[in-house]
Amino acid sequence: MLEDGQTPLDAYSEAELSSLLRWYVDMGVDLAIDDAAHDRFAESAAAAAARKGAQAPSRAAQPAAADAPAGRKPPLTAPVAAPPPPPDQAALTARERAAAAQNLDELRAALDAFDGCALKRTASRLVFADGNPQARVIFVGEAPGGDEDKQGVPFVGRAGQLLDRMLAAIGLDRTGAYIANVIPWRPPGNRTPTPQETAICLPFVQRQIALGNPDILVCLGASAAQTLLGVRDGIMKTRGRWVEYPIESPQGHRTIRAIATLHPAYLLRQPAHKRLVWRDLIELKKALDALTPRG
Ligand code: URA
Repeated sequence: MLEDGQTPLDAYSEAELSSLLRWYVDMGVDLAIDDAAHDRFAESAAAAAARKGAQAPSRAAQPAAADAPAGRKPPLTAPVAAPPPPPDQAALTARERAAAAQNLDELRAALDAFDGCALKRTASRLVFADGNPQARVIFVGEAPGGDEDKQGVPFVGRAGQLLDRMLAAIGLDRTGAYIANVIPWRPPGNRTPTPQETAICLPFVQRQIALGNPDILVCLGASAAQTLLGVRDGIMKTRGRWVEYPIESPQGHRTIRAIATLHPAYLLRQPAHKRLVWRDLIELKKALDALTPRG
């Protein structure tokens, strides 16, 4: 029996609580989003009822203060957000909104206003880009992780620090490179984005590349390579080979050079493969050195 002011968690020892927390982290729940728990089933039931024209959400969705156990505050109830549109509709809207953006600021604003990707609801914030949008080379990764989600900047965690060292190895830093991801919101628990999420976000990253208008695209890892270059092979086969990448920028149609290399997060797990990336970086440096200066 709970005393006044006690919560169910008071019944557990510190060791039990820390093991519960560890279990959550192992399950991919590694971020506290809110002070109060949300019953997402009740929230979507309420949203469905609202769509059907019901006057009020069900009691299950909106616990009244009187329902709260004595001595405990009623849970805070977040406003019920409309569920994202069906994926086909979302991908269509994404394409229209991305195409309408005439510069990177407009594209960022379009993404901020876009509710078609469910990942936006679990991420803390949009992770749009870092570096120099005028750079001649753009690096594109898969999706933000926990550190990126906290700071709103791509590649700032351990993988990002390794990316910075990779750039430094060929005399680059973030003032000479533009950095983005295929997916701009962190997938919960850093899981791999689903094909549906990727398809919905693709028009935005394609437009981001076009509006940045670089001369060279570097795909970091299999996911970016497969999504942007349309290759099916694994990254070991794809990496280090130049391919053409078409862009439709406001300045017109252009074909730029693209190359894939291993993702820095993979290199943290398989450091022996850094020698392969070194070769790709040398290729990249040669290509950058061969560019004619911009007028
Ligand atoms: N991995 C990515 O692909 N992107 C980031 O921004 C961070 C880690």
